[in-house]
Amino acid sequence: MCGIVGFAGTREAAPVLIDGLRRLEYRGYDSAGVAVSDGAAINVAKVKGYVKNLSDMTHDGADIRGRIGVGHTRWATHGAPNDVNAHPHMSSDGRFAVVHNGIIENYALLRQELTKNGYTFASDTDTEVVAHLLEMYYDGDARRAVMKAASRLEGSYSLGVICADGRLFAVREQSPLILGLGVGENYFASDVAALVPHTKNVIYLDDGEFAELTPDAITVYDVRGRAVEKPVSKVAWDVEAAEKGGYEHFMLKEIMEQPACFKATVEPRIKDGRIEFENFDLTDEELHDINRIIITACGSAGYAGQVGRYVIEELCRVPVSVELASELRYRNPIIDRHTLLVVISQSGETADTIAALRECKARGARVLAIVNVVGSTIAKLADHVIYTWAGPEIAVATTKGYTTQAAVLDMLAIWLADRLGLMEKERYDALVEALHAMPGQIQRAIDLNRGIHRLAKKLCKYNDIYFIGRNLDYAVCMEGALKLKEISYIFAEAYAAGELKHGTIALVEQGSLVVTLACYEPLFDKTMSNIEEVKARGAEVLAVALEGNRKILSKADDVIFVPRTDPLFNPIAQIVPLQLFAYYVAKERGCDIDKPKNLAKSVTVE
Ligand code: G6P
Repeated sequence: MCGIVGFAGTREAAPVLIDGLRRLEYRGYDSAGVAVSDGAAINVAKVKGYVKNLSDMTHDGADIRGRIGVGHTRWATHGAPNDVNAHPHMSSDGRFAVVHNGIIENYALLRQELTKNGYTFASDTDTEVVAHLLEMYYDGDARRAVMKAASRLEGSYSLGVICADGRLFAVREQSPLILGLGVGENYFASDVAALVPHTKNVIYLDDGEFAELTPDAITVYDVRGRAVEKPVSKVAWDVEAAEKGGYEHFMLKEIMEQPACFKATVEPRIKDGRIEFENFDLTDEELHDINRIIITACGSAGYAGQVGRYVIEELCRVPVSVELASELRYRNPIIDRHTLLVVISQSGETADTIAALRECKARGARVLAIVNVVGSTIAKLADHVIYTWAGPEIAVATTKGYTTQAAVLDMLAIWLADRLGLMEKERYDALVEALHAMPGQIQRAIDLNRGIHRLAKKLCKYNDIYFIGRNLDYAVCMEGALKLKEISYIFAEAYAAGELKHGTIALVEQGSLVVTLACYEPLFDKTMSNIEEVKARGAEVLAVALEGNRKILSKADDVIFVPRTDPLFNPIAQIVPLQLFAYYVAKERGCDIDKPKNLAKSVTVE
């Protein structure tokens, strides 16, 4: 959601903070602000809109002087996105400035209490209560004030706090926060993307912990204020991975990275032709104890789960359901220790997904997480983790996150089927071989569609786009439609092709575009009939089909071809041109591709 950064050093803080905010802007871009202290007073600059507005307003931070500070880039929850609601928020006496990511659930009660005590509020945010609580609890010791204020808060929050006298604090509760250890300077941020330009040595704070940062030291405390020793971890991502590297947008860069990310995720897990996961194994007894699998996630991660469902059921003959985390968490689900819960999340911080995980774990489920961000909350809460090695994903619309999740699910299905004794050696070897070939096939899916921007130019005029397909094709439709609506704001929905005639076809007419996925060969002829049906109602058809399929040419108006892979892995090759299609349509329509309106990459609030 929001991104926060903090800096303590001996050089000017504001330029470092603003650079950090730029790297976290994918988390929210409604407003941006920094507060720095020169040891005597706090200087604040904040403004509605992108981080660029903040950097223009302050001449890249040169106008606000001070060597410690905090910064914030906002995705508004409480209060409209304007200059006043922008963070940092100040205490009335000017002693404290606060930045916050998350939601303070009891803010209304606290606001009432503080108002009664004579504090006046400048903004509509939940965050401002923290600034006033700090003032109320300050008795000469800023650390004690931070601890006392935090103990009054309910909800999820990571906080950055500076005190006018030059002290800097970071607090974590159910919201990501990472500390970075530099040489003669120290940092914190919501995500390592803002830390890697400075250091690869990081400390992952746990819930309830807080830290004080000075240029020379970081001290971490538990909830009761006792110093705790924390391990220092090394970040594997380098700074280039979090930069655009010559591409116009992060999204395009990340689409192009997919062959390499697939390889990085899959290859290290294949040893001597056998699939092995480094942090996940089950005994035979544990395996046979599982009688169902529930996959839960939000957004694209859920759609990767839809692909996984078809593949796991096909190979393992275990019932699999895919549940939206936001529904599962409140549904009083029927779950016990025979359930394997597979939780999928790129960020590992999605609030609904975390809540669903906790709910199901409390009911006895064994939890396997498929996560991209090392040390994230979901990775910590799960019983087992399989990381996707996609590297940092910055564009709000996920691409490499999704394909690497699908890759892990494919591997999991093969691994599980083998362990359950359901797979012949020949089939196993063939699938492993096919996995090895996938990076090349993904590259071919890109190469075959180098001209897709022309198709996007022709079709970007449509305002209603239906994605239809059957079986695995239907699973891909969901993600294809989501990509398009997320970044181009075109109404796009996925429908199971066979379900079309039960309602949705009433909407299809001249002026509708129907994107038909026709790669699932066992049902190809049925999908062809669906093409006839929509064409008969005047729709234009863009088909996605396997290379070499000539039949499709006579039916569809335009065709996107993808290479032939093992049929189970088709979704991965298919989604790539659909990502590119969405990208170029959005570009034609002049949309801000990496920062789509109303969205944030990491939804850490409910
Ligand atoms: C947000 C993003 C989506 C993403 C979803 C789940 O809604 O805009 O692109 O798929 O969150 O995120 P996660 O980090 O849990 O995979």
